[in-house]
Amino acid sequence: MPLVPAKEVIEWAEGEGVAVAAFNFNNYEFLDAICRAAADLKVPVILATSEGGIRYMGIEVIRPMAEALVERYGITAALHLDHGKSFETVLKAIRYGYTSVMIDASDRPYGENVAITKKVVEVAKPLGITVEAELGVLAGVEDEVSAEKSIYTDPEEARAFVEETGVDMLAVAVGTSHGAYKFKGEPRIDVPRIRRIRELTGIPLVLHGASGVYRDYAEKLGMEDARGVPDDILKEAIRAGIRKVNTDTDLRMAFKVGVLEALREYSGIDPRKYLGRGREEVYRMAVRRLKVISLL
Ligand code: G3H
Ligand code: 13P
Ligand code: ZN
Repeated sequence: MPLVPAKEVIEWAEGEGVAVAAFNFNNYEFLDAICRAAADLKVPVILATSEGGIRYMGIEVIRPMAEALVERYGITAALHLDHGKSFETVLKAIRYGYTSVMIDASDRPYGENVAITKKVVEVAKPLGITVEAELGVLAGVEDEVSAEKSIYTDPEEARAFVEETGVDMLAVAVGTSHGAYKFKGEPRIDVPRIRRIRELTGIPLVLHGASGVYRDYAEKLGMEDARGVPDDILKEAIRAGIRKVNTDTDLRMAFKVGVLEALREYSGIDPRKYLGRGREEVYRMAVRRLKVISLL
């Protein structure tokens, strides 16, 4: 099965009323674990790399490695550029075989965001490549009170943005943030806002910063203050119209737990002994996330 445009797997999610998981990877171990988890649960998946991930691996190895693993496990998957910050980065990803790209100009003024997103859509759409853009700024809950309007995605603005750009899917700011420390107090996601944006735009919405930051892993890593999006809130967000859910932090935490546990028991130098345990933990976490995101 070749890599497919993200639009195809998102359409599957629309039909099922669920979301597709997008997992970030930076090496072979993560990618193998993610693909095996998707195969075992018989769901499609989005394989994502950030600009940092591309720098780390080298862009020319990414599509061949992803294609080989998608083939090995017989899964349906898209290869996605996560948070592409410039037109040049997006073009490079397209040239190297990505089937989906995110142009993230959410930190620029509205007009500039529209202009660059439109430019990406003009190039990508005729090639059958899916385009994700972002509107609003992801921030921690401590910023929310003072700047809710300016950081959360405005539904009316989202409608105009989608009309003006013709983008396939839109990342929205509704209370989540990247990393392991998302909330100071109670986790809060603005689900009615998701519903409203969905009504007004009619397109699939994307939730970034969606990791669960599970207690069992946080405690093993001495990250007791870390807070993620609880599974039941994530499911509510999916029912309101989120169709792509991004996860990076949960896999990172799982990998580290696996490697640390392996190194506690193993004093040798064979990297397969501890990277293999890391891979196993990433697999287990990917299964856990896929069950939540696919509403299984
Ligand atoms: O959205 C952010 C992802 O977690 C990627 O993080 O830029 O460190 O690879 P990164
Ligand atoms: P987390 O940090 O919550 O895993 O979010 C990842 C993400 O949004 C990647 O784009
Ligand atoms: Zn993100």
